Amino acid sequence: MSTAASYNPALPHATDCRLAVHGGRPIQPEGPPTWPLLDAAVETALNRAFADGSWGKYHGSHCLALNEMLVTMHSREHVVLTCSGTAAVELALRGLRVGTGDEVLLSAYDFEGNFKNVLAVGAKPVLIDIDPQTGQLDVTQLELARSPQTKAIIASHLHGGVVDMPALRAFANQYQLAVIEDAAQMPGAMIHGRIAGTWGDIGILSFGGSKLLTSGRGGALFTNDSTIVQRIRLHTQRGNDTYPLSELQAAVLLPQFERLTERNRRRAANVGLLLEMLRDTKGLSSFVGSNDCGNSFKSLDFPIVTARVNQPGFYKLGFWYDSAQFGGLSRDQFACSLRAEGIALDPGFRALHLTHSKGRFRAVNDLPNASRADTSLLVLHHPVLLGSENDLRQIAEALSKVTRSVCQDELQKRHH
Ligand SMILES: Cc1ncc(COP(=O)(O)O)c(C=O)c1O
Repeated sequence: MSTAASYNPALPHATDCRLAVHGGRPIQPEGPPTWPLLDAAVETALNRAFADGSWGKYHGSHCLALNEMLVTMHSREHVVLTCSGTAAVELALRGLRVGTGDEVLLSAYDFEGNFKNVLAVGAKPVLIDIDPQTGQLDVTQLELARSPQTKAIIASHLHGGVVDMPALRAFANQYQLAVIEDAAQMPGAMIHGRIAGTWGDIGILSFGGSKLLTSGRGGALFTNDSTIVQRIRLHTQRGNDTYPLSELQAAVLLPQFERLTERNRRRAANVGLLLEMLRDTKGLSSFVGSNDCGNSFKSLDFPIVTARVNQPGFYKLGFWYDSAQFGGLSRDQFACSLRAEGIALDPGFRALHLTHSKGRFRAVNDLPNASRADTSLLVLHHPVLLGSENDLRQIAEALSKVTRSVCQDELQKRHH
């Protein structure tokens, strides 16, 4: 096990090898960086919105400007601003006229709101397994999942991974199925030369409080189809907009877009650095840059792969966790130890087929990879990816510390 090799005893706190979870000194005593960052441009926008009264108005220039910006950024004709990403997916389904008797294909490992939205419009979710390496919807299983009732596919890019959109798009075109592309976790990412969200008939974004672009709450959808937008307007406009994004939210979002590309680049570069630091760590394999070498990854693959086809976004950085490499420590115990060390590493989503009653969905098979994801995925939260090299080193250090402690426990058990 080579993780101990990457532990540098010259680093501060190396003498206190007790885990923070057992009362030792955390590697990062201040905890992970908070989000959102202090941002002078947002402060200016807030002050302006205060001065001109737009903070308290129904309508004004900020939502119009945000709308225009999203239209240009995604080269789509129509944008609908919404109160959340979840609402955007619901409206997308309604705009496509998905309803009772219809089926919607989606990954068995996805944001729960996507599953619940399908139920909310009266349709049936059909769950598809994930790719065992990338953790994304396995597009090779779409054909197995399709039925005469299939109306749409929801494709979510998760944790720095990217769904194979060219293959998914070709499948959808072949059977005239609609695609909702959920880019909530990667605004501004590039997927096979197209900006995330534009492979779908409808793309969606989230501006929730933890997201890369945040207004606390909020979302958007974009499409070229005016009929879809017309149906959405009929549903939402009831003398007032029932799913609105406010002027104040739009005001604070606008300056964040100006730095999105630069920040996406910085996050991606830091992911490359971090993976390089963790390259000898067994038992963790990243969604990005993973290869076929069992449980290890070679981070050097990352820039090569991404430069060729994708520039993902990093709301979270996903890892497969192999407890056997950590003395049987469960994924949840591992995440808890890392949290105590001040690192924002958390369990991933629950798998949908394991958390909802069987009568509510159809599944193509036993969904073995999504079942594994339920207990084996870890996600690193993004704010640290805008940090310094030292911040990243602390992640590697914390991982080493936990690993060393597990190894020592193992040795002690053997001696007794
Ligand atoms: C993939 C995905 N889709 C949709 C959403 C929903 O976004 P919101 O929180 O704005 O409702 C999320 C939120 O985390 C998400 O991760």
